[in-house]
Amino acid sequence: MASIEVQPLDESLSFGARVTGVTREALDDEAVRAKLKSLLEDRGVIVCKNVEQTADMQVKLSKVFGPLKEHPVYTVTRADRDNLPGVIVIASGPESCIVEIDGQPLVTWQPWHFDHAYNNEMMYAAVLRSIKIARDGGRTAFADGIQIYNDMDPAIRAKLEGLNVLYNLDLRYDKQRFGLPKNFRLVKQHDNSLSEENENGRCSVHPAVWTRPTGEKVFRLCPYGCRGIEGDRSDEAFALLAEIWEEAERVMKVYYHEWDEGDMVIWDNTRVLHEATGSNPEEEREIHRTTIKGDLCHGWWEDEAEAETAA
Ligand SMILES: [Fe+2]
Repeated sequence: MASIEVQPLDESLSFGARVTGVTREALDDEAVRAKLKSLLEDRGVIVCKNVEQTADMQVKLSKVFGPLKEHPVYTVTRADRDNLPGVIVIASGPESCIVEIDGQPLVTWQPWHFDHAYNNEMMYAAVLRSIKIARDGGRTAFADGIQIYNDMDPAIRAKLEGLNVLYNLDLRYDKQRFGLPKNFRLVKQHDNSLSEENENGRCSVHPAVWTRPTGEKVFRLCPYGCRGIEGDRSDEAFALLAEIWEEAERVMKVYYHEWDEGDMVIWDNTRVLHEATGSNPEEEREIHRTTIKGDLCHGWWEDEAEAETAA
């Protein structure tokens, strides 16, 4: 019988597991699939080592955690639109956005976020695979929403209750109202029109805290694409969001994943925030990501809520 070996990623963290032995044969074993599924629910992030590096294997591993779903933005680059639904490409190229942090130019940098914040329907999880590993940077960082919630100053944590946050697909950093690093500078905007087209685009709404079926409360707020609070886009609303976010960043305990050949990384997007630390613009970096459907933690559209109130 196939078996996998599980270890904590880091003894000092509340989340994360490192797994070896993930092979095709192992994934055909119902007991192994069940173990991986409950491991993701329990630990939030799984780093699989020495996995066969094919799209087929990435999809097979993804399906352990739920059915794949199509990515909600049609124009996002696909690995293979016909044969690999929902597998998207995140790559550096001449069109990429370049930022500078502490004087260092970075490509494929992204601030802390949860994927699909701009959508009403949340994706449960994703499997990442590095196609071209950047040697200078290019780490993926993860932080646990349960740990953040538990460790926040209770006075600030109380401000999360009942707070519904707006997001859309305008992801330009010069429009981001909080959560950019100190000594941040936008060098070159991403060379596509997605953000511009969504400047006044439809907003999704996501509660800043949610309760898992297992009872833990999860901090769930991010600065990326944030457009304010439901019913309040004032400067005061952004000041409150910035205050909460600063506290979250102060307490968060981060795992930085350094990519190795053979890695596949899975995270629970309803619990764990992630960040791309960016890499040297002289180097190529390419990651493929699947999109796994789930039932939990969905938001709603702002205009739908308004229509309901008016009706
Ligand atoms: Fe992401």
